[in-house]
Parts: sequence; structure tokens; C-alpha cells
Amino acid sequence: MACSVLHVADKLALVRGITPKGLGVSGSDLHRKYQIPRLSLASNSRNLRVKTLIPKCSVSASRPVSQPRFIQHKKEAFWFYRFLSIVYDHIINPGHWTEDMREEALEPADLNSRDLVVVDVGGGTGFTTLGIVKNVDAKNVTILDQSPHQLAKAKEKEPLKECRIIEGDAEDLPFPTDYADRYVSAGSIEYWPDPQRGIKEAYRVLKKGGKACLIGPVYPTFWLSRFFADVWMLFPKEEEYIEWFQKAGFTDVKLKRIGPKWYRGVRRHGLIMGCSVTGVKPASGDSPLQLGPKAEDVSKPVNPLIFLYRFILGALAGAYYVLVPIYMWIKDQIVPKGQPI
Ligand SMILES: C[S@@+](CC[C@H](N)C(=O)[O-])C[C@H]1O[C@@H](n2cnc3c(N)ncnc32)[C@H](O)[C@@H]1O
Repeated sequence: MACSVLHVADKLALVRGITPKGLGVSGSDLHRKYQIPRLSLASNSRNLRVKTLIPKCSVSASRPVSQPRFIQHKKEAFWFYRFLSIVYDHIINPGHWTEDMREEALEPADLNSRDLVVVDVGGGTGFTTLGIVKNVDAKNVTILDQSPHQLAKAKEKEPLKECRIIEGDAEDLPFPTDYADRYVSAGSIEYWPDPQRGIKEAYRVLKKGGKACLIGPVYPTFWLSRFFADVWMLFPKEEEYIEWFQKAGFTDVKLKRIGPKWYRGVRRHGLIMGCSVTGVKPASGDSPLQLGPKAEDVSKPVNPLIFLYRFILGALAGAYYVLVPIYMWIKDQIVPKGQPI
């Protein structure tokens, strides 16, 4: 699988230029400022031409994070997973989030002791938790999700029987400050109306020296994929993740690129699981970041017609992203190995 690590010096200014290579930071700026080796992007794809190894992910012309997409809302996400949970593990996950990707993505989380206290936020059916409990005792792991339907699937899994499984909101975690050694969240940030608030919560619940590992999508550059991404849910740019982590107070912020191996490092369609971002909490207590009131008040009634309109459009746009990995898989089968796809 293609992967690489961007290590961000704590005081590094973010670069926000548009680039023909579509990184949001120019290829040369990225490599110079973040000191990543150019060829490390597809570490096990040695035969690919250099051109294909230059990452293509986000551009700056995206819809602003402050304008949520149709399913980037708690109520819409709740109903989305009411249905998706039925097929999530068997039909949805295999195209985007494979076991080998999970190992790659969790590696920077340093799950280096069975005694670590771990929270898996937006843990859903427990797919990522299954990777966590390989390294940590299940009794020390809490799976939190806002969807009881997703959690019901996690409860059925034998290796997760001893985990604590609770309903809750990623933007308002029911854990005390300085509680956990590790915070993991995989494939959930895209539904949070206020991602910065969720990352601030990650900071708060960690102990001093604890590590957050957030795995999430990356923004596409190809116009059609960008259109569907923006209708469906949040696909952050890599530099946005880094900025959110730094603003929350994390240090030693790193971003590792991941992707299904049959994509051969291609990132122009975006990736639903495209990066694993880690940061260390340097001091006890709450995050230094102050935020205003929550972006979405779930107790407020919504107009059912507007809700339905948003939900149907959002879900249809999501269907495009069921097709993308199939298309990439077919391309991988057809195009000779060593050629760009
Ligand atoms: C793509 S699934 C990922 C599940 C799991 N982490 C995995 O790796 O397979 C996203 C999950 O995030 C949950 N979610 C979305 N918004 C949330 C929120 N605000 N608080 C908690 N969970 C949320 C959804 O219910 C869903 O189970």
C-alpha cells in the first residue's frame, strides 16, 4: 500500500498556495518545508515512474469547512448509518478500508502496551477496534459512537466482548479530562459538523504525553470526484488536519498517507481513508483553544422535507464513492504493473 509520512515542525507556518500538482502545498514546498523524501510516497511501488509518485490530493478551491455538506450533520449521519450499518462491514468497508490499511494507519498510534487506556471515537461496527485489541487489552478499550445500529454490530464481535461500548458524540466526549493514553478515530471526522471541536475534545481527554491518531478522508482534485465529495461529506485537505491538530495544542504532529493498494498511490479521486494524523498532548488539562457554541444543535427540530432532500442528495453523492474503488480496482487489473493508472 502507498504510504508516506509528513512530519510537521510545531511552529511551521502552513502554506496555502494552489498548485498544478494539486497538493494545496506545492510539491516542492511540501518536500522542502515538511522534509519528506519525494520517493517515499509509494514505498512498495518501486516500478512506478517518478511522475506518479508525486502526491495528488487537495487543492485550495474547496468548499469551506464552515459550509457543511449534506451528510456532515449529526442527524443526517445518524440516519445514514441506520441503513449503512446493515452492509457496512461486508460491502462498504472492503473498498476503502482494508485490514492492511488499518495496520498501516494504526502504526503511528504507538499501541505499545496492553495496559494502555484507549478510546475509539466513532468506532462504529468495531472494524478499527479489532486492530486496536490486537495490541491492547479489550477491557481497556472504549468504543464510542452516536449510532446504536453501528454499535450493535460491534457488540456481536467476539474479540470486542470485553470492550466498553457506549453511545456518545465525538464533539462532546463523556470522558474526564486527562483520561486516556490513546485517542483513535477512524473514518468519522467527515460527519462532524465542527471537526476542530472534535479534535479539541481528543486533546482534552488524553493524558499528558498521550497520543491522538485520527484517520480520515483526503480531498480529491479530479473535478467530478470533487463535486460528489462536496455534496456528500467533509473531505479535509491534509493541511487542514495539521492546522486543526496544532490549534488544539498538539505537538509532534505527523500525517501519514494511506490508501488501498490497488489505487497504486493515486489520490486524485480523494480517499475515504486517506491519511492517519497523529499528535502528542504536551501538558495536562484542557486544550488552550477556545471555541464558541456548537455548530449543530441536535435538539432543535428540523423541517422533515429539508432533511429528506439533504439526506437523499447526500446519500446519492455517497454512492459515487462506492463506484470509485471498483473503477480503480478494474484499472489496476487492466493497466500493466509499473505503468501509471
Ligand atoms: C465510516 S464509520 C467508521 C467506523 C469505524 N471507526 C471503522 O473504522 O470502521 C463512521 C462512524 O462515525 C460515526 N459518527 C458520525 N458522527 C459522529 C459523532 N458526531 N459522534 C460519534 N460518532 C459519530 C458514525 O455513526 C459511524 O459509525
